[in-house]
Amino acid sequence: MSVEVHVDWHGRTHRVGTLHSADRGSAVTFEYGADWLASPGAFAVDPTNLPLRRGPHHAAQLFGVFQDCGPDRWGRVLIERAVRRQVLGSKPYREMDYVLALEDSSRIGALRFRSDPDGPFLTPGDGRIPPLVQLAALINAADAVHSETETARDLRFLLGSGSPIGGARPKSVVALPDGRLAIAKFPKPDDTRDMAAGEILAMALAAKAGIRVAEHRWIHSKGRSVSLISRFDRDGGRRIPFLSANTLLGLSPGDPGAYTQIADGIRQFGEDVRGDLHELWRRLVFSLLASNYDDHLRNHGFLMKSPDKWSLSPAYDLNPVPEIDRARTPKTALSEQHDTPSIEAALDAASRFGLRGPEAKTILREVAAAVVNWRKQARQLRIPSGSMAAYSSAFEHGLTDEAVRLGS
Ligand SMILES: Nc1ncnc2c1ncn2[C@@H]1O[C@H](COP(=O)(O)OP(=O)(O)OP(=O)(O)O)[C@@H](O)[C@H]1O
Ligand SMILES: [Mg+2]
Repeated sequence: MSVEVHVDWHGRTHRVGTLHSADRGSAVTFEYGADWLASPGAFAVDPTNLPLRRGPHHAAQLFGVFQDCGPDRWGRVLIERAVRRQVLGSKPYREMDYVLALEDSSRIGALRFRSDPDGPFLTPGDGRIPPLVQLAALINAADAVHSETETARDLRFLLGSGSPIGGARPKSVVALPDGRLAIAKFPKPDDTRDMAAGEILAMALAAKAGIRVAEHRWIHSKGRSVSLISRFDRDGGRRIPFLSANTLLGLSPGDPGAYTQIADGIRQFGEDVRGDLHELWRRLVFSLLASNYDDHLRNHGFLMKSPDKWSLSPAYDLNPVPEIDRARTPKTALSEQHDTPSIEAALDAASRFGLRGPEAKTILREVAAAVVNWRKQARQLRIPSGSMAAYSSAFEHGLTDEAVRLGS
């Protein structure tokens, strides 16, 4: 199977090349088109796995840039259920079939696909993104999936333009009243704490700690708690290219990686290298102090704002993990040498982020000052004390004391 690959750039769509997926096995080949290679503004859509050059690129697995705009665990559950309930005629077969099972209009990043040069961009549905007012119905449909009582209609709804973009949690893309896109992340019936309250609290604290975070809002729909995160890969009608850190570093899904490797990626491909290195170290310290253990390399992203330059996206998917759940969540290592999370190790590695000792200590103090005020922030967000209690061990722990001691 072959598809044309297009990229939206500054509001115009350009054909960049062709992707071929083998009929048997998972091998793929991508080749940039001669027109794209010859155009003065050409750039690589995935600089590590698909550098801009003539001739075919072969790989044993789908290139990271395409995986980044396909479904992850939640989307795969829906797609597989849809096959079981005969909503989809056949099970997607190749990795690229999963990517194409998602809607074009809500796809993450700026890539679009076409099988016929004169045909439309490939999309399974009608491209209409559910408005926020349909949130309760979307949550009901997701609940039905969790209890395995979903109908074909539920699956069509969830697999439609709401599109099960990446990630493991149940979610949908929704259109805000002003037309902008957002991601609504739903509760799961077996959640042991209010995940949306925790995520919004972490996002608010991160902003107070001086981190650039995605625009976020805590909302309720029929009493259910939902985090609403505005999409940063859209600017009005324009699409902005996105890559996960995993892809930028050329790693396979699930490779553990380390913060210092992301720093190396910034040095190689960054636009504001110094600014992003400092921002990344600030995020690293915040993740330690707010127990954001789910900081794997698909939870760090990059946006392309100038050709061939990749800038850290606003921070997203920040989740404080209470002590009881930490053993199950591996944390991204600070560096190749430092696997055990500690403030001392973070300070030790700061020079790899272009920071001198006093600069690092200033950032450490700023982040610690924001996180120690977590109860005040939670009260400002009107998080009930019962929900707050579940998070105390995420914000009050040995590393907080270490930060106060080493920051002074
Ligand atoms: N604000 C945003 N704008 C654009 N894309 C986003 C935004 N937030 C998240 N994404 C993309 O959507 C994916 C899924 O979102 P998110 O990480 O919040 O979901 P999740 O289900 O909590 O993920 P995980 O599997 O890490 O728990 C991200 O990996 C990222 O590619
Ligand atoms: Mg995530």
